[in-house]
Amino acid sequence: SGGGDLDGLRVVVSTGGTREPIDPVRFLGNRSSGRQGAAVALAAAERGADVELVAAHVDDGVLDAAAAHPRVRLTRASSAQELQEAVVTIAGESDVVVMAAAVADYRVAGTSDTKLSKKGDEGLSLDLVQNPDILAGLVEDRVPGQTIVGFAAETAPTEEELLSKGRAKRRRKGVDLLAVNEVGWDKGFESGENLLVFLDARDEEIARSHGSKRRVADALWDAVLTIRGSR
Ligand code: C5P
Repeated sequence: SGGGDLDGLRVVVSTGGTREPIDPVRFLGNRSSGRQGAAVALAAAERGADVELVAAHVDDGVLDAAAAHPRVRLTRASSAQELQEAVVTIAGESDVVVMAAAVADYRVAGTSDTKLSKKGDEGLSLDLVQNPDILAGLVEDRVPGQTIVGFAAETAPTEEELLSKGRAKRRRKGVDLLAVNEVGWDKGFESGENLLVFLDARDEEIARSHGSKRRVADALWDAVLTIRGSR
């Protein structure tokens, strides 16, 4: 252990964007780079935690620093269902779970084993079915003393609306801590900077942090320590 303020804490962090297969060569994906979750994992390890990092698809090089840390164990997953399987397998043994992955809400029903071919001039419809809400399942199966943290990437015209969306999501998900961040075409995803607002289990804003993804990752762990200390 590293003598940091997270010494001995067992944490699970998910990151990256899931890919939902359409056929052997195509998928539905999203623009998550995995940077914020990788920073959360590395910050925890450097502060002494033992980290299980479950990574879906991330940009090149994003996992390098975290994966090289001796207290980080990396597992890969592609689809939402694979990510759930990986996270749920280790969640029961952990003190804190941070779901920073961008999980697809839907997957393609009846994925084709052969490449779909273009049929003519008509359009193509894909049937989608809902994926499990991994976070909701973790909250349902929460073990005593465990802290569950979610992210809410939202678009909103004003800060008021951003926070009210965040509060609604905090309640819906039942998480102990929700990190709300505004995303837009030029913010959040793929960028090096982030603004996070932390809502606790009473929907109170307990902190906010603006800056590099590493800086806001440290603010997240500070917020986790605050709520774990105050219950
Ligand atoms: O509802 P929304 O997708 O905005 O919630 C975001 C939070 O929920 C993130 O923490 C994300 O990792 C998690 N999530 C999940 N399973 C899903 C969808 C989102 O765990 N199917």
